[in-house]
Formats: sequence, C-alpha cells, structure tokens
Amino acid sequence: MPFLPEGIESILITEEAIRQRVNELAKQISLDYQGSKPLLVGLLKGSFIFLADLTRALDIDSEIDFMTVSSYGNSMENNEVRILKDLGEPIQGRDVLIVEDIIDTGLTLRRILELLAARHPRSLKVCTLLNKPSRRKAEVVVDYNGFDIDDVFVAGYGIDFAQKYRNLPQLVVVKRA
Ligand code: IMP
Ligand code: MG
Repeated sequence: MPFLPEGIESILITEEAIRQRVNELAKQISLDYQGSKPLLVGLLKGSFIFLADLTRALDIDSEIDFMTVSSYGNSMENNEVRILKDLGEPIQGRDVLIVEDIIDTGLTLRRILELLAARHPRSLKVCTLLNKPSRRKAEVVVDYNGFDIDDVFVAGYGIDFAQKYRNLPQLVVVKRA
C-alpha cells in the first residue's frame, strides 16, 4: 500500500489504471481527428496533468490552450460562469476538444459549451477524465469519458481538495468531515 497523506480515505483509481485509460482515450481521439489538428482546451486548474498526459499519448498533431472559469450559483436558473482567463486565439473554424477533469452537475460545462459554440468552431467536443452521472443537472454530451464514478469527493492527478493533493499520482477519495 503506497503512502497516503492525512485526510485521504482510499485510492479510487491507481496510477497504472489511469495511464492505461488515458492511452485508450488518446488512441480513439487520434483516430477520430485523423487529418485535423485539434485544439485541446484544458479547463484550469484541474485538467493540467490529464491534458499533459493526453497530448503526449496522441499520435496526431494538436495544439493546446487553457481557460479558467469560476462558477457561482448552483441551480439551473442561477448558473453563471465567469471567465477568469480566456483562450489566447480565436477558435473559428477549428476542431476544438474541451479537456475537463470532472463533470459533476454539468452546469459549468454547459455554459462553457454555449460560450465556445458562439465563436463558431468547426467542431466542439468534450473529453473528461471523470464523470459523476448520478449528480447531473444539465444534460451535456460527453464524447470521451475516462471513468464513471460514484458521488464521492475525489482528488489527485491534478484535481484538488482546497488546493491540496493535486500532486498525488493516483486518484483518491477524500475523507469528508
Ligand atoms: P459542475 O459539473 O458544474 O458541477 O462542476 C464540475 C467541476 O466541479 C469540476 O470541473 C471540478 O472542478 C469540480 N468538482 C466536482 N466534483 C469534484 C470532486 O470530487 N473533486 C474535486 N473537484 C470536483
Ligand atoms: Mg474543473
């Protein structure tokens, strides 16, 4: 059993299982985007390690960019997303693939999809490492999904709990008080 820091309940997905799944996703994405040079848009901060591993596993050309958004309001009616850091380039005519860490309610992603669709990309798809289908409030199409997980609070592999645990190589379940 590897060392687990204080506050961690258990390992949810091992380093090896993540690596294997990321490679599978990359293989599928490489096939689907043959002949295109997709723009991978990482949603910061949680997706940074996933995006780093995913791009290195692709065997097609790709470009990357990042976006930082903050959500406030947690109902369908009152869901605003503020862009804290926007993309560096226009995406009109590009094949855009959003790379997300976790889709929970789907409310954040739905707003981001609306915002980016309005800029007229050639295509707009979503790749997430983790998905919590039981928590969904807004329907979003997930084109590439690493793992469906239960309603637990996870961290590690770039994902934080109060800015902690991003450095853990595996995905862990955080102890809830
Ligand atoms: P939602 O889909 O709009 O509800 O929000 C999804 C975002 O909430 C994710 O991109 C994460 O940043 C954050 N989030 C949701 N569940 C977790 C979790 O278990 N651990 C860490 N962050 C989470
Ligand atoms: Mg996120």
